[in-house]
Amino acid sequence: MSKVAVVTGANQGIGFGVVRRLCKEHPTWTVYGTSRSAANGEEARKKLEAEGLTAKYLEADLTKADTIVAMKEKLLKEHGGIDILVNNAGIAFKGAATDPYAVQAEVTLQTNVFGTHTVCEQLFPILRDGARVVILSSFMAMRALHKTKEISPSRYEVYIKNDPPMTIDAALNLMREFVSSVKAGDHAQKGWPDNSAYGTSKLANTVMARAYQQQFSSTPERDIVVNAADPGYVNTSMTSHSGNLSIDEGADTPYYLAVLPPNTPIKGQHVSKRCVVEWK
Ligand SMILES: NC(=O)c1ccc[n+]([C@@H]2O[C@H](COP(=O)([O-])OP(=O)(O)OC[C@H]3O[C@@H](n4cnc5c(N)ncnc54)[C@H](OP(=O)(O)O)[C@@H]3O)[C@@H](O)[C@H]2O)c1
Repeated sequence: MSKVAVVTGANQGIGFGVVRRLCKEHPTWTVYGTSRSAANGEEARKKLEAEGLTAKYLEADLTKADTIVAMKEKLLKEHGGIDILVNNAGIAFKGAATDPYAVQAEVTLQTNVFGTHTVCEQLFPILRDGARVVILSSFMAMRALHKTKEISPSRYEVYIKNDPPMTIDAALNLMREFVSSVKAGDHAQKGWPDNSAYGTSKLANTVMARAYQQQFSSTPERDIVVNAADPGYVNTSMTSHSGNLSIDEGADTPYYLAVLPPNTPIKGQHVSKRCVVEWK
């Protein structure tokens, strides 16, 4: 069956790699990448075309809700629904950035957490039965989880609670608390990590995958599955090209999760190198 896939932040890096893989392996599917600049999207489309691959590009900026709504309306009008959503778009300040921690926390969370949430809230209503959703997380998420165990055992317990896991609203509220606390300068007293806005945002991305899966578990007959993907350390702009993996290698786990077969047992998990990482 021909499917419709959407990959955010796909004009470069891992997202571009996921679009390329989907196009290569499923030439009959309609694969959309999104970019915040139309020109960059067109450049990516042409690059794929030169490789004999057909992808479409839509404009979407995670920090501008109207662009996400417009994307949803276009997808709905053209296809009536979608089958795959890879929430890949994300940002990270460079290690050498001199922006205050409060700015880094607010800006990072605005895209990685609240922007990803906007995409999910808009596109989840048009997911078709059997849809697969991937949220790009990171090995930094597990590092942040383990750090939380040291600095705030009570928050660690909230994060790893399984039955039921933290809800989306609770996760977003926790992230708002994080940003407020960093702005107020009392994050250390309140057991938040120092200088780790990115890790905190990626931990939230994994928590979001768990929480959304819990929501979909009330309609198991729909077989909609959400997982978080750790792509590894990838050679992209984000890592200033210091990653040891190519974008095609980094795209492998997100791709694997995007095409999980019907009734897969892999649900609401944090997955690295195609393997589930124990949540503890
Ligand atoms: N690279 C790694 O080693 C690594 C490791 C673990 C996890 N990840 C995760 O993998 C994902 C992709 O990372 P990457 O390394 O491929 O980064 P990248 O090369 O910097 O690409 C990021 C993509 O996200 C887009 N983006 C950023 N902010 C956006 C916004 N507000 N709205 C829409 N799109 C936006 C960028 O658009 P522009 O081109 O316009 O900037 C770009 O297309 C991220 O979620 C990242 O956290 C990466």
